[in-house]
Amino acid sequence: MKGRIYYFTGTGNSMRAARVIASQLTDTEIVSMRADPKDYPATDCEIVGFIYPVYHWTMPAPAVSFVEGLDINPNAYVFVVAMPSFVCGIACEKLAEILKKKQIDIDYGNIVYSVANYVIVYPPFPSAKLRVPKTERKLKDIASRIARREKKEYPRAGRYIRRKRDRVMKPYLELQKYADNPFTISEDCISCGLCTRVCPCKNLTLVDGKPVFQHHCANCMACVVSCPKRAIGYEITAGDRKLLDASTSKTPLVKIMGLPKKRKLYMNPYITTKDLTKENETWQKEAKQEKSS
Ligand SMILES: Cc1cc2nc3c(=O)[nH]c(=O)nc-3n(C[C@H](O)[C@H](O)[C@H](O)COP(=O)(O)O)c2cc1C
Ligand code: SF4
Ligand code: SF4
Repeated sequence: MKGRIYYFTGTGNSMRAARVIASQLTDTEIVSMRADPKDYPATDCEIVGFIYPVYHWTMPAPAVSFVEGLDINPNAYVFVVAMPSFVCGIACEKLAEILKKKQIDIDYGNIVYSVANYVIVYPPFPSAKLRVPKTERKLKDIASRIARREKKEYPRAGRYIRRKRDRVMKPYLELQKYADNPFTISEDCISCGLCTRVCPCKNLTLVDGKPVFQHHCANCMACVVSCPKRAIGYEITAGDRKLLDASTSKTPLVKIMGLPKKRKLYMNPYITTKDLTKENETWQKEAKQEKSS
């Protein structure tokens, strides 16, 4: 085994990145971080990559747990690609901190700015038409650099972001504690179960044909954008709103959190809902076939 790229994704940007980079490397497979890290160790890998979105100026919590549980070859070439929309914050530093405890350094780190997908707060922006071609170009460039085993310091948060992080992001991190409480399932739900299969956190199960949230949600947006009936909504109740207003009065975006029925949704144009449901083995087999054809 030569390489493994581990990715976490909600709406496909990071999965697409993993796929583009893997296509430039020899014998490298991509592995979703929704798997158990013990089933996909990197102990025999020469290249190990980590690709994930940025949540609240840091690394998504499920990606943190995954990497913490992963065994890695200490001599591997290790890279990270963070996929924020605008502010990367400490997303790469957080990974470096976890790897440091395993005595592993990052050889190459970069950021690829992507379409912002937090659709329960705002419509996707900038438009996919504008941003995706730029993202694709940068991914191809990064892929060729990684293929040449180039070295590059991973990006770090600037002084301003570091100073503001606690105050600006605290409300969102507080919200994470009950991230899936405001989700609603409408009458339009046809009990297809797709939302349960796309969820990277195994946070949804069907009970009597209706999805039930299990309270370990990352707010990744996969279920929201994949539902064929737009049956998943997001509405903070009056009680929760009161609590939020008391604790987060200085953060306007938290105040407007909600998902109007007409809001535009986003999924990376190269990734389908079906791709998000695939188990690692199926996905790898298909990627190999595609590469050899
Ligand atoms: C819960 C949540 C929090 C986010 N926080 C940030 C952030 O702090 N900074 C940023 O630039 N983008 C943020 N985003 C946008 C995503 O990082 C970005 O759209 C990413 O490319 C999505 O990747 P994916 O398609 O692989 O899920 C956030 C998105 C979500 C869903
Ligand atoms: S994807 Fe939508 S329609 Fe299908 S079970 Fe989930 S909520 Fe219902
Ligand atoms: S429940 Fe939905 S938003 Fe939460 S982690 Fe699963 S797919 Fe993402």
